[in-house]
Amino acid sequence: MDFRVKRAPRIETEITVPGDKSISHRAVILAALSNGVCVLRGFLPSEDCLQTVTALRSMGIRIEQPEPEMLIVHGKRRLLTPPPGEIDCGNSATTMRLLTGLLAGQPFDSRLVGSSGLSRRPMERVITPLREMGATIAAEGPNETPPLRITGSKLHGIDYHSPIASSQVKSAILLAGLFAKGKTTVREPSLSRNHTELMLNYFLVRTVKEEDTVVSVFGDQVPESRDFTIPGDISSAAFWLVAAAVQPGGHLLVRDVGLNETRTTLLGVLIRMGAQVREAIEEVDQIEPRGTAEITGASLKGTIIQGKEIPQLIDELPILAVAGALATGTTTIRNAEELRVKETDRIAAIAHNLRAMGAQVLELKDGLEIHGRGTLRGAKVPSFGDHRIAMAFAIAGLFADGETVVQDAQCVYESYPEFAKALDEIMNPKGVRTTTPVISSLAPGRADDEG
Ligand code: S3P
Repeated sequence: MDFRVKRAPRIETEITVPGDKSISHRAVILAALSNGVCVLRGFLPSEDCLQTVTALRSMGIRIEQPEPEMLIVHGKRRLLTPPPGEIDCGNSATTMRLLTGLLAGQPFDSRLVGSSGLSRRPMERVITPLREMGATIAAEGPNETPPLRITGSKLHGIDYHSPIASSQVKSAILLAGLFAKGKTTVREPSLSRNHTELMLNYFLVRTVKEEDTVVSVFGDQVPESRDFTIPGDISSAAFWLVAAAVQPGGHLLVRDVGLNETRTTLLGVLIRMGAQVREAIEEVDQIEPRGTAEITGASLKGTIIQGKEIPQLIDELPILAVAGALATGTTTIRNAEELRVKETDRIAAIAHNLRAMGAQVLELKDGLEIHGRGTLRGAKVPSFGDHRIAMAFAIAGLFADGETVVQDAQCVYESYPEFAKALDEIMNPKGVRTTTPVISSLAPGRADDEG
């Protein structure tokens, strides 16, 4: 499947986006470990999240899906049964890393496999702390890459200083900690998305948060079964927020989207670049703040994105790079070497595609320097098999002269199965919808100068 994209008319609309990918993975895992039936609404039925569902089913958890976005999970009080064969994580690193933590302390052995792309992703980052906890994990690929063979072992708590701010690493350790003796602590160099700790609290598992970047869990606790509604994914909304932001006079409301502050850094960056942004948190009852984001576009100017901002907008960097190319002046992204080990080397992929569309880009070891000229030209660009590259360059095509073709775009099913439909609605609006503005304003995000 290719995306064929033409210039966007003026954007004046309101949308919703599908459920949050990170929260969907975590909600179904904790529901499976809980002591009863949990109804999950707003679940993201994307390929990545369904890999986690299939894996849990293979370990004896009954999960019904009466509607695409609704799961009824029959928790079995932490009792998982040995999977009959290997567990296929598809292309989902979140599935593999979180399940590695979960499986390390089970009384049975397991083997985790994945796509050729996933088999190149680094797993040492979870294997090292889990081994410190007593896990027995053999990586069959070179340099600790998948497949992973896990021999179920008795675990003990550790106090781990993580060298990277990664929510997947933190989550793997906390899930292992639930099955370990004593207290397990993770310390991060800066705060990564905090959904696992919030979800543990929601399921009444006791955690301790000494500081923002230090979280502990105690072993031997059974999550209390509860229903949960997953908010819309701000990382999916990011594509439309940027599309409206780069268009002077463009105006967009995103309703019922997750507004967890470890995920909204993108909004601060867009304000810094000159867009007007408002957010209104309308609901906090279920621990994850959710509400409306509103954006009004402008002629954007370049900015610097680095330091502690990076882990909190890591998935938004491809679309922010596109915003940078459509802005005037220089946009610099630093401290983002993690982009090199995502679904593809996103630094190289962004540089390649932006150049193909006529932008002037310097590739740095840990980021990009983009000399925006406010315009792009249509081109044929590869997706590199990476969903966020495919979607970012579809948006770039909305603001380019001539037609843009994004090749092999089926990878968007990993995180946003309805993206093509939403793109079509932006290109061919059915009529202008009236919107109700939201109330509170956001302060501009501060360009972080710490490495
Ligand atoms: C995710 C965390 C991020 C993000 C990924 C999903 C998660 O990765 O890039 O798309 O659900 O925990 P890292 O935690 O490795 O930074």
